[in-house]
Amino acid sequence: MSFDRTLRIAPSILAADFAAFGAECRAVEDAGADWIHVDVMDGHFVPNLTFGPQMVAALRPHVRGTMDVHLMIAPVDPYIDAFAKAGADIITAHLEAGPHIHRALQAIRATGKRSGLAINPGTPIDAVPELLDLTDLICVMTVNPGFGGQSFIASQLDKIARLRSMIGPRPIHLEVDGGVTPDTAPKVAAAGADVLVAGSAVFRGGPESYAGNIRAIRDAAARATAQMA
Ligand code: DX5
Ligand code: ZN
Repeated sequence: MSFDRTLRIAPSILAADFAAFGAECRAVEDAGADWIHVDVMDGHFVPNLTFGPQMVAALRPHVRGTMDVHLMIAPVDPYIDAFAKAGADIITAHLEAGPHIHRALQAIRATGKRSGLAINPGTPIDAVPELLDLTDLICVMTVNPGFGGQSFIASQLDKIARLRSMIGPRPIHLEVDGGVTPDTAPKVAAAGADVLVAGSAVFRGGPESYAGNIRAIRDAAARATAQMA
């Protein structure tokens, strides 16, 4: 069977109500979210602090589907086991997080979880071929990580397209994170992304808006890929 590249929408709970994460996760899943994207920030690798493995463990019973945990932390290795035990399904480390990303991806796979490789807007992708065999997901950052609600960096579209052809038929998701809206979703989908992280564009308007917000992103992306077919 070929790898399932059906478009997935992964709301980032960075834009959710921080006083109600459990209810927010249930609400976006009920509204059609495919994955829940959890942004872990350490105030060192990125200039913001969010939450750690205890939060992931607390959320786990409230998430039916895939928990996609994006680690914006350095070092990564000392925390991999804790996030795996907390119930993450995908653990993504940054290419820039240290000199031993190869080891970090190996360590993630060794926990039995899927491994992700995130790449900042200013980072070239020449190291990626060395890491493809250890990677289940590549996350292209289309903002500089640290905050939600930033503007999409269009120069990354070419990087997405180059990564899509580098991945070829391999079973690796191509995820885009940052500034995804109904306006930018068609561009990233056309460039080859199959997982769209979206924070502010999903959570704006509160729970009664989530289904419409997710549908707007999904439909916009689907129209772009339909035109290509
Ligand atoms: C940025 C995070 C993103 C962010 C996306 O550091 O990795 O997941 O929350 O938020 P929006 O969709 O608002 O750009
Ligand atoms: Zn993220």
